Amino acid sequence: MTENNNSELTMTPTHKKTHEPVLFNEVLANLSLNTNSVVVDATFGRGGHSAAILPQVSALYAFDRDPTAVAHAKNHFSEIKNFTLINRPFSELQVGLSEHAIKGIDGMLMDLGVSSPQLDVAERGFSFRLDGPLDMRMNFEQGMPVSEWLADASHQDIARVIRTFGDESDALAIATEILAVREHTALTRTTQLADIVTSVKAKKFKSHAQRRKEGMKKTIHPATKTFQALRIFINQEMHELETCLEQSLEVLNAGGRLCVISFHSLEDRIVKRFMRDHSRVDPVLAGLPEIPVAMRPKLKIVGKATHATKEEIEKNPRARSAVLRVAERIRDVA
Ligand SMILES: C[S@@+](CC[C@H](N)C(=O)[O-])C[C@H]1O[C@@H](n2cnc3c(N)ncnc32)[C@H](O)[C@@H]1O
Repeated sequence: MTENNNSELTMTPTHKKTHEPVLFNEVLANLSLNTNSVVVDATFGRGGHSAAILPQVSALYAFDRDPTAVAHAKNHFSEIKNFTLINRPFSELQVGLSEHAIKGIDGMLMDLGVSSPQLDVAERGFSFRLDGPLDMRMNFEQGMPVSEWLADASHQDIARVIRTFGDESDALAIATEILAVREHTALTRTTQLADIVTSVKAKKFKSHAQRRKEGMKKTIHPATKTFQALRIFINQEMHELETCLEQSLEVLNAGGRLCVISFHSLEDRIVKRFMRDHSRVDPVLAGLPEIPVAMRPKLKIVGKATHATKEEIEKNPRARSAVLRVAERIRDVA
């Protein structure tokens, strides 16, 4: 990999380019690496985990769909011989690996969600705290920004997305207010949306600032759930995750470990169910004298869900909601 890529250079110079990898030691311990291992980092980000994995393995294939992550890999990892960047979403795991003639891998990490540089750059539109275009696409060269979707979506669809992916109890009222505002103003900025949500929620509750001032129970910003929901929707994050997990079964070698870090209960539920369903015989078939080969377990769950320690959360508050789950591919028995 060579040359600079402008995507990284067009961002505001003040943003933080760093990303503190979460559950770092736990991931390394669970991947069970050796010098012959071929490993996938499905979420390269700024390469925090990749950098630690690379010296321990024979080859690492890193996926990311964010052009700034790709630029970072080109700028900082291009000299590393056993590193290959695959500029594809991780739902294209199999095709991405087959382009490099990789048939089997010995481990895979998925560190889901957004990176700190994505959140900290106002122009990306992920943050309700920073004024920027209402975009939120991980790959801003493809697809539709949130602003475009919100301009045309029906009341029902907006409410459904905010409720489903944000678990937001005021989804209907927020959708109603979005429609009212867009009647007379184009909804194009993150702060416009944050203000809409805040005003809807303020009608019901004391303001976020007020609650903090009064030292009431720690509270999240009123727009947190709505922003999270729209981000998950516009990037099809749940579909991406499900697709990649299914494909991992086809590419992991026997003994290969799958490590997934989620930050959201919906994600974690998908990961937990996937690992559970593939590590047992479907209860519907359990009584059969012989279980069909295709229906036999493909995974073994390794340990329990791991959370960040208090010390890690103090240093890196992003780790607060992180959950690591690990499973091992077991041999297909004919
Ligand atoms: C939490 S960050 C990973 C940080 C990384 N582990 C590190 O230490 O720097 C998640 C990264 O995954 C990428 N990502 C999220 N969903 C993706 C998908 N479906 N396909 C490819 N990359 C994705 C994001 O663009 C982001 O860069």
